[in-house]
Amino acid sequence: MNMLNNLVGTSPALESVLRNARMAAATNVTVLILGETGTGKELLTESIQQNSQRSTQPFIKINCAALQESLAESELFGHIKGAFTGAHADSTGKLKAADGGTVFLDEIDSLDMSLQGKLLRFLESGECQAVGKTHPDMIDVRIIAATNCNLGERVSQGLFRKDLYYRLNVVPLELPPLRQRGSEITALVDYFIHNTATEHHLAEPMLTKAAYKSLKSYLWPGNVRELKNVCERLCILRQGQTIDSGNLPQEITSPSATANQGFSLPETGIDLEALEIDLIRQALSRTNGNRSKSARLLGISRDTMLYRMNKYQLA
Ligand SMILES: Nc1ncnc2c1ncn2[C@@H]1O[C@H](COP(=O)(O)OP(=O)(O)OP(=O)(O)O)[C@@H](O)[C@H]1O
Ligand SMILES: [Mg+2]
Repeated sequence: MNMLNNLVGTSPALESVLRNARMAAATNVTVLILGETGTGKELLTESIQQNSQRSTQPFIKINCAALQESLAESELFGHIKGAFTGAHADSTGKLKAADGGTVFLDEIDSLDMSLQGKLLRFLESGECQAVGKTHPDMIDVRIIAATNCNLGERVSQGLFRKDLYYRLNVVPLELPPLRQRGSEITALVDYFIHNTATEHHLAEPMLTKAAYKSLKSYLWPGNVRELKNVCERLCILRQGQTIDSGNLPQEITSPSATANQGFSLPETGIDLEALEIDLIRQALSRTNGNRSKSARLLGISRDTMLYRMNKYQLA
C-alpha cells in the first residue's frame, strides 16, 4: 500500500500529492496544504515533518483561528519584560521555541492582517522580532501552513495579503476531497478497521461487497475523518460479524437531499452567511450546545466551529 508514515494514499490523485510531499519533505521549503475539512492536512503535515531532516527537532503546532487577537503577536514572536501591561517576564515566542525545527500554522486564513505582514517579514528574512525588543533574532524555522479556505479567493476579497499568499504558495499540496478518491475508500476502510480491531483487541468484522459499494457511493462531507469515525464505530459494534449495507449508518445508505445532491441554489439566490448562522444554531440546539458534536454534524473541526461561533457571536 502506498503510504507516507500513517497516511494511506492509494488513489492516483493522492499518490501525486504524496510524491510532491516527499520531495518537499527533503528540503526546507515552505509548504502550503489545502483541502476541505477532514482530508488529512494535519496528518500530512506530521508526515512531512517526520520525513524531513528536522524530524528530531522541535515541532510546534499553532492554530491561527484560536490565537487571541491581542496576544497573538507575542505568542508567535515573543515579548520582553515590560513590553505591555501584564508582560511580567520575557517570553519566548513559539517561532523561536521551534528554532531549528518546524512550525505548523493551521487555519492560516484566520491570521490577522497585521500579523500576516509580520509573518511575511519573518519568512523573507528569518528575523524574529519580539514585542518590545529593539533588535530581531535570526532564527531558522520551517513553516508548513494549512487552510480549508480558498486562499486565492481570500486574496481577491482583500482578506489575505497577496504577497504572503505567494510566499506561502511555493509548494502547494492540495488534498482532494474523499468523494474524488473513490478507489481509496476500500483501502482506508480496511486500514481503519484493522487498526481499531488491533487497538481494542477485537475480531475484525467482514464487509460485504454491497457494504463497500454503499461506502463508495456516499459523498463523505466530513471526508476521511467521517469515514474513520464510521469504521471505528462499526468495528466496535459489529466485531467479528458480517457488515452488509443495511448495517451502515442511515445517512450513508439513504443520504438526505443536502448531503447527496447538494443544495440547489434558488434563482433568487441566498444569504450564505445567514444560512451558516442558522445551521450552526440548529446544530447547537440538536446537540444541547455540545460544540464538538455540533462541529461533527457540520463536518468542520471544533476549532473552526469555535471560530465561526465567535465571529457570529453565537457563544
Ligand atoms: N490518508 C489518510 N490515511 C489515514 N488516515 C487519514 C488520512 N487522511 C486523514 N486521516 C485521518 O482522518 C482524521 C482527520 O485528518 P486531519 O485531522 O489531518 O484532517 P484536516 O484536514 O486537518 O481537518 P480539519 O480541516 O478539520 O482540521 C485524522 O484522524 C487522520 O488521522
Ligand atoms: Mg486540521
